[in-house]
Amino acid sequence: MSDRRDFLKGAGAAAAVATLPLSLVELAFADAAQNFTFAYISDSHIQHISGAKFVNNWDRGLIRAVAETNLLTPRPDFVMFGGDLAQLGTKAELDHGAEMLSKLKGQLRCVMGEHDYYLDLGEYWSKLFGPQWYSFDHKGVHFVVLNSVLTHDDWTFKRWPTAEQRMLEMAGLDNPNGSPFMVGEKQREWLKQDLAKVDKATPVVVFSHSPLQKIYKGWNFWTDDADEVQALLKPFDKVNVIYGHVHQIQYNQIGNISFHAVMATAWPWPYPQSYAQAKPLLPKLTVPMNRGNPFFERDATGWQFIDVATGRVALKYNLYNNTNRTVAFNPATGRPEDLQFQDPARQLGPQVHY
Ligand SMILES: [Fe+2]
Ligand SMILES: [Fe+2]
Repeated sequence: MSDRRDFLKGAGAAAAVATLPLSLVELAFADAAQNFTFAYISDSHIQHISGAKFVNNWDRGLIRAVAETNLLTPRPDFVMFGGDLAQLGTKAELDHGAEMLSKLKGQLRCVMGEHDYYLDLGEYWSKLFGPQWYSFDHKGVHFVVLNSVLTHDDWTFKRWPTAEQRMLEMAGLDNPNGSPFMVGEKQREWLKQDLAKVDKATPVVVFSHSPLQKIYKGWNFWTDDADEVQALLKPFDKVNVIYGHVHQIQYNQIGNISFHAVMATAWPWPYPQSYAQAKPLLPKLTVPMNRGNPFFERDATGWQFIDVATGRVALKYNLYNNTNRTVAFNPATGRPEDLQFQDPARQLGPQVHY
């Protein structure tokens, strides 16, 4: 794929590209007339302080992503927001976030995050953004959006004296009072019916908030019924799952399904691999991630393309103050690999704080 630094218009474009806190996704086909792009912004965590005050850093991350999305050329066909628009799911936070998102040119579609959901169980979010799970077809690709942050009824409805406490318990990264995320039986039945209508050769792109794979339960980098969802996706030739929530680049291959995480506009989370207690519990990911220090602010931001010209996704990550990288499916090994930095000896050093 050619260099895409010409995606932003204007003389200031080069400077903006290096710091773009969003993901531009390109779906490329053998027939170039079918090619299209969409942008992906995620995990803005708009946080209300009091009155008209919100945490400024998180506001700036989203405002910037929206402004830079509006500069993209060619225009993305649509924009996805990957969940966790709010920090504690309040009307004030969702309204403030929605107002910033309303500045986007073009169509916006949203994924539910746990920080949006667990105060009122998605009621106000749904008023603003519509259904919590749905599908659509666009230029030969079947897109599915899932609410993957549901959990057991007992936890949701019986455990906590107030809705506010329920939200706080689920909002912590490593809070043992949280509960594992799941898509749930009702939604899996819907997905089964939805996919029954789709030809097995049609590329499928699934958007979820939590990973539809089991990475680390202790931090809820996890979806409890991921295996069941993967089984429904298994018959398709080309499946790509794109998720937020983890605030970091992750990629993996399970059977025929490629997994890719997108960046947050708010902050990075550390990699579970960096947490000594998590080590014995982690699955073997197909690709180690090349990041020297996860605590550099903005490390989890950047943008990327996804190319499904061969039926497998290939991502070009354009990272903030760090070397760009391309992760592409390697037919020889049957997994996505970093084209330049896969060899651990070639891993990148820490990023420069901006
Ligand atoms: Fe998040
Ligand atoms: Fe999340």
